Amino acid sequence: MKPEDEFPELESLTAEEAATRLADLASEIDRHDKAYHQKDAPEISDAEYDRLRRLNTAIEAQFPEMIRSDSPSRTIGAAPAAGFGKVTHSRPMLSLDNAFDDDDVENFVGRVRRFLGLSEDETVEIVAEPKIDGLSISLRYEDGKYVQAATRGDGAVGENVTANVATISDIPKTLGPNAPAVVEIRGEVYMRHDDFAALNRTREENGQAVFANPRNAAAGSLRQLDVSVTASRNLKMFAYAAGELSAPVGDSHGAWLAQLEDWGFSVNPQSAVCQTTADVLKIYRAIGEGRAELPYDIDGVVYKVNRHDWQERLGMVSRAPRWAIAHKFPAEQAQTILEKITIQVGRTGAITPVANLLPITVGGVVVGRATLHNEDEIRRKDVREGDTVVIQRAGDVIPQIVRVVEEKRPPSSQPFAFPTVCPCDLQTPVIRQEGEVVARCSGELACPYQQVERIRHFVSRDAFDIDGLGEKQVKAFFDRGLVRTPVDIFDLEANDSNALDPLKRWEGWGEKSVTKLYAAIDARRSIAFDRLIYGLGIRQIGQATARLLARQYGDLGTWHNAMAQAAAERADNPDEMKKPELVGEHYADLCNIDQIGISVADELTAFFSEPHNLEILKGLEERLDVETLEAPAADTAVAGKTVVFTGTLITMTRGEAKAKAESLGAKVSGSVSKKTDYVVVGADAGSKAKKAQDLGVTVLSEDEWQTMIT
Ligand code: IVH
Repeated sequence: MKPEDEFPELESLTAEEAATRLADLASEIDRHDKAYHQKDAPEISDAEYDRLRRLNTAIEAQFPEMIRSDSPSRTIGAAPAAGFGKVTHSRPMLSLDNAFDDDDVENFVGRVRRFLGLSEDETVEIVAEPKIDGLSISLRYEDGKYVQAATRGDGAVGENVTANVATISDIPKTLGPNAPAVVEIRGEVYMRHDDFAALNRTREENGQAVFANPRNAAAGSLRQLDVSVTASRNLKMFAYAAGELSAPVGDSHGAWLAQLEDWGFSVNPQSAVCQTTADVLKIYRAIGEGRAELPYDIDGVVYKVNRHDWQERLGMVSRAPRWAIAHKFPAEQAQTILEKITIQVGRTGAITPVANLLPITVGGVVVGRATLHNEDEIRRKDVREGDTVVIQRAGDVIPQIVRVVEEKRPPSSQPFAFPTVCPCDLQTPVIRQEGEVVARCSGELACPYQQVERIRHFVSRDAFDIDGLGEKQVKAFFDRGLVRTPVDIFDLEANDSNALDPLKRWEGWGEKSVTKLYAAIDARRSIAFDRLIYGLGIRQIGQATARLLARQYGDLGTWHNAMAQAAAERADNPDEMKKPELVGEHYADLCNIDQIGISVADELTAFFSEPHNLEILKGLEERLDVETLEAPAADTAVAGKTVVFTGTLITMTRGEAKAKAESLGAKVSGSVSKKTDYVVVGADAGSKAKKAQDLGVTVLSEDEWQTMIT
């Protein structure tokens, strides 16, 4: 389908709307990337996620001048989470384009032929292999010895999981004598169904949360700081691709797989070399038919051009190789009854309708709820309470509602009336801004749902990470007036010791669990600066942006002061389209940080204009010891320097360049000013290169930059 057919609404999109939607998509996709890659807990289905990416691409195609430096089309996955060391991949870890039907496969082979200039009668050998539903991993061997393993992360930088991966029995520690000095092997770590079931059984018995599927279980098991936990999980791995190689290995993918097997890796036994597209599709159907009997999850078949020299020539586009494609299996579907539509209110007041279903098993998982996303989605599908609906899971956690089975609709059914007021006691109006899909409760700080969600966010894993303060506890403390804001958490023990009804007497609590909770809270009285920023729950400020701000401003006092000044400047200049420089110095500094545009800056200034927020921040400042973010390695040539990348880079993507610069202690900015130290210009650089010259800032070619940092 062409993008304009899939998103007809884009036809009337204005440039201003496009900018807002691209900003929203960048932060939304980033959030989902993190949920998937770092927390192993995706919130939307793969299909929904792909749709968001396609929407982003479609808008960018219409407004190419608005492609953001942090656009999802330029990045893969999410940056690594804290806790593990970082590994910069010597070759980026790519992702794959998808094919959904036979035509897409024909088109893929056609594209390969055209690109290589092959005639119709020349055979294009394709290797077909099952697409394993696990997590990709890169193993590095030097002089035949296993030295490192890393997760994919954002494709450029992953997490160092060397010790964890060493526990996987499928992985040889040494390669044969014919191995080149440097060999990187990529593959998929996965968990077998029987191990998955056993693990969840044990977790259930121990009262722990169960994993939603084997993929999440594998990811969760690998990313354990305690390696003995990984060792106990019986993870497996299939090897299928190469990263850096100091010398070529074989001249085809088939030969590479044979060599991998020879070195002792597990290569999927269903991998097959095909001569024609018809053969490829035959294998696809055969693998699909046998799928249910396999002891592990697969979600499609990957096709790879066999010849290495052709792979080389085909190269890659944005984040995927031109020589490979993933042919996905259709999602598993089932019918059930939608009993009720309930409303959830998020931290920022976003109103999300949720379908409560008559529980049903789809693809081996019992499903009781599905998200309905928003009002437009409900209207588009005309979903009503009492309807029989088709739901689907595509290897994902939260299922989607595909359509309503209209023949089964009860005669008395009524269209769903989207609420006009928040379900909270205040019944504040629900407002939907023009051009936005999300409706929000206008109660802001007064809405109890939002207050509870803010506290939940504050204590969540990536923020303050306070054990023992889950959804239930936060809600109970809130309802009893014990914790109304994040500040109250740190006064809990003091207030509780004077309470008439102390916590240890509450149902479900005892002396031991109360002591444990207080210890968990005490452990967070000292907190990393970026976690504090993230924990405040400011709209559009995800972990990455929080880290960026922490790094840029250094310490809480400086940041607080700068934000307060920026907020004052913004309040004096409410005109939206104004250039940041004209608004004020602090505001412009903020907008100039690479990846922070006007829309993020406005969220920050809005937050700092709200007295209630300032009061909370002050309360936290008084109670907490906020650790300054550790400065990255200071002994590199570019440490502490501000760098701007402009134009098209050849040896690396913009994201890769940025990650590398930051890992060396440089600050990367989006625009050139007097404070810029270096402007690195790629091909077709425009106004930034010129501005650098005008301001007398050092301009470097990509080569010069590379020399400087190596
Ligand atoms: S090849 C340069 N082969 O699918 C090509 N990937 O959607 C890199 N995957 O990131 C990937 N089975 O995690 C390849 N037989 C297979 C695979 C496979 C599973 C995963 C891999 C990749 C993702 C892309």
